[in-house]
Amino acid sequence: MKKLFLFISIFLLLACIASGQFSKAAMDSINKLTREDYKNMLDQIGITSVRPGPSGNPTAPNAANMDESKAGQYTSLPDPLILNNGKRVKSAKEWWKKRRPELIELFDNELYGRVPDNVPEVTWKVLNVTRDSVGSVPVVTKKLSGHVDNSAYPAIVVNIDLTLTTPAGAVGPVPVIMEFGFVFPAGWKPPVSNRPQGPPEPTWMEQILEAGWGYAILIPVSVQADNGAGLTAGIIGLVNKGERRKPDDWGALRAWAWGASMALDYFETDKDVNAKKVGIEGLSRYGKASIVTMAYDERFAIGFIGSSGAGGVKLYRRIFGEQIENLAASGEYHWFAGNFIKYGADPLTQNDLPLDAHELVALCAPRPVFIGSGSTENGDAWIDGKGMFLAGAYAGPVYELLGKKGLGTTEHPPLETTLTDGDIAYRQHSGGHTSGPNWPYFIQFAKRYLK
Ligand code: GCU
Repeated sequence: MKKLFLFISIFLLLACIASGQFSKAAMDSINKLTREDYKNMLDQIGITSVRPGPSGNPTAPNAANMDESKAGQYTSLPDPLILNNGKRVKSAKEWWKKRRPELIELFDNELYGRVPDNVPEVTWKVLNVTRDSVGSVPVVTKKLSGHVDNSAYPAIVVNIDLTLTTPAGAVGPVPVIMEFGFVFPAGWKPPVSNRPQGPPEPTWMEQILEAGWGYAILIPVSVQADNGAGLTAGIIGLVNKGERRKPDDWGALRAWAWGASMALDYFETDKDVNAKKVGIEGLSRYGKASIVTMAYDERFAIGFIGSSGAGGVKLYRRIFGEQIENLAASGEYHWFAGNFIKYGADPLTQNDLPLDAHELVALCAPRPVFIGSGSTENGDAWIDGKGMFLAGAYAGPVYELLGKKGLGTTEHPPLETTLTDGDIAYRQHSGGHTSGPNWPYFIQFAKRYLK
C-alpha cells in the first residue's frame, strides 16, 4: 500500500517534469493559474465546490476504498445497445448509424469535450534520421516535428514531438505501435524494486522489433500541457486564441488523442509504415489517452490500455480506488470537458453520468483492445483493475453485434491469467503501476491482427 502512494507521488512529480516545469517558483505559478482557470470553469457551469475525493494514501483517514465487498454499490449500468429513445439496437447498421453517434455525442458533451471544427493544419518535418541498433536489431530512427499552423494566432506555438523507429532490414512497410511517452529528466532512473529480480527482460521496444514491427513515441505534453494552467495555451489555447475553454470544449485527453491522429496522418505518408496496422499504447493518464484515441479514431488498428483507471476504462460507478471527485478536482479536471466536473458536485454523482466506461470500450468495436493492469496488492489498487476488467466485459455485446468476440466472462480472473480468446483482452500482472510484464502478452495478442 505504501508503494502505491509512492508510485502516485512519483507519477505526479513526473507529470510536472513532463510539463517542463520543475522549479518551485514555476510550480507555484502553475498552481495559481490552474486555480484561476478551475474557478472560472466552476463559475461557467454554476458550481461552487466539488466534493472532496478519497486519498490515494492508504493510511489517510479518508483513504480510498480498496475493499471489494464495498465496491459494487451500483444497481445498473447504462446499456450501450439501448438508443436514447429507449429502443434496442438490433443490427450492426443501427449501431453505426444511430447508437455510436449518440454515444459519441454524450462522450463529447459530458466527458472528454469536443474537438473544434477549425483545428489548424499540421505540417510534419523530419528533423533528423539516425541509424543504429536497439537490442540486436539494426534500426532507422526519424525524429519528427509536427508544426501546427498558428498564422491565426502567432502568440501560441505548437510543435508536436514524435520519433519513429523501424527495423533497418524491413522489406516494405511495417506495423507500428505508438506510445504516449512520459518525459524523464536527464539522469532519471526508475525506482529500484525490492522484489526478487529475474534476468533482465528485453525492453518493450526490443520486443516490438523482434516481432518485426516498428515503434513510435509521441510526447503528449508537446501538444497540450498536463495542467489546468496550460489550457489557454497548447493546441486547445491556440484554437481558442488564448481565451479560456467553454464547458464542452476538449480537455487534454482529447487533445493528446488528436495529436496521435495527427501522427497517424504522418504515418500514412511514410513508406516505412503500414498505416493500416498502427496501434496505440499508454500507461495511466496516457492509458486514458490511448483508449480515447482508439474510441474516436477508427483508423487505429489496436490499443494497449495500461492501468488507465478512472477517466479511462474503469467503471465510474464502482467505489474502489480513484473516484469521480478526484478527477473533477483542480489537479485533473483539465483532462476532461468542464461539463464533467458537475458529476463530482452535489446533487450529481457518478450514478447520474449518462454513460460509463464500458461504452468507451464499445466505441472501439470491432477493433481489438488489450486492457492491462498491475496488482491491487503490489501498488496498482488506485486504478482498480477489476473495474477496468468489467468495463471490458460489458462492452462485449457491442463486439458480438459486430460479429466479434468479447471477454467471454464477467468473473474477474486470478492474477496473471491471460484472457485473449476474444477481441477484447485482459491481463492483470502481479507487479505495480507499469505495463512492463504485460508487453509479451499484448504482442502475442496483437500478432493475430498485425500479421
Ligand atoms: C494519478 C491520477 C490517475 C492517473 C495517474 C497517472 O494517480 O489520480 O488518474 O492515472 O496519476 O497518470 O500517473
